[in-house]
Amino acid sequence: MTTKPIDTTVSEVPRLKLLHGHAIPRMGLGTWPMVEDECETAVRFALQSGYRLIDTAFQYGNEEAVGRGIRTAGVPRSELFISSKFNKESHSVDGVQRAYDESLRKFGLDHLDMFMCHWPVPSLGKYVDAWKGLVKLLEEGRVNAIGVSNFKPAHLKEIIDATGVVPDVNQIQLSPDLARREPRAVHKLLGTVTEAWSPIGRSSGLRTNPTIVHIAQRLEKSPAQVLLRWHVQQDIVPIPQASNPLWLRENLAVFDFSLSAEEMAEIRRLDKGEEAARDSDLPENGH
Ligand SMILES: NC(=O)c1ccc[n+]([C@@H]2O[C@H](COP(=O)([O-])OP(=O)(O)OC[C@H]3O[C@@H](n4cnc5c(N)ncnc54)[C@H](OP(=O)(O)O)[C@@H]3O)[C@@H](O)[C@H]2O)c1
Repeated sequence: MTTKPIDTTVSEVPRLKLLHGHAIPRMGLGTWPMVEDECETAVRFALQSGYRLIDTAFQYGNEEAVGRGIRTAGVPRSELFISSKFNKESHSVDGVQRAYDESLRKFGLDHLDMFMCHWPVPSLGKYVDAWKGLVKLLEEGRVNAIGVSNFKPAHLKEIIDATGVVPDVNQIQLSPDLARREPRAVHKLLGTVTEAWSPIGRSSGLRTNPTIVHIAQRLEKSPAQVLLRWHVQQDIVPIPQASNPLWLRENLAVFDFSLSAEEMAEIRRLDKGEEAARDSDLPENGH
């Protein structure tokens, strides 16, 4: 590992334009599996350190804690991009409106910047209705952007064919070893921004992969920073989760260096292929 301290200097996080006019920060904080005080503290610290995008979901059971962190951070609401997701129980037009109102109540906010369908759950067969519910929220001006998560290209085609409305964002499992080149190519054609969950591999061992560690040593960055730079350099929005304050700051400090074409090619060889990612068509995957 590098002997020099890791640079954690952070300035304003740049943004990417979304299809429906809003702009999303190019890096955010993931909040699962943090709850209660740990979650509130991490969100507050993250916002005070320069994060502007916070990702959560009904499923994480932490929307109240995220809301407390937001309200006590002292950052103007207008600068923030707050995003949550609903579960399969809300897969209907009215269900999505109720889920949105319930999320707002828990956050203590009057609007979210983005609301998302967490998983398609094809065995239920209701994700088109869920998408119609999100389109209604957007058309009524109650939310700035609408998205989906874990949707495959076939699911995207179905919701777009049914409504003519393309998601601003699709949040999928994505890291250099699960590079998801096929869905990313589809998102690019559609103009949908790709968000990455488990962007630094959670507990997969990716941060100790020799290729990543060698590049990190060469650049005097941490392995997590190399992984996150790989995302932002390709216009992917990663949402790493961290509770450790040093890691929170370190993760955001990836906008002042770049990976060379050779380094990107080395990292490309780590991809295990589409089959290695969590399959959202399987009934056991999704909530
Ligand atoms: N849409 C979906 O279906 C879905 C599914 C899973 C996750 N997500 C979202 O994606 C977010 C991120 O994914 P994830 O939490 O699975 O995985 P991740 O962000 O890839 O990894 C998080 C882990 O990395 C550690 N870590 C963070 N920064 C580090 C650093 N600089 N150096 C070393 N270790 C570091 C964290 O430790 P500490 O906690 O100890 O700080 C935590 O154990 C979640 O929080 C959630 O918001 C969405």
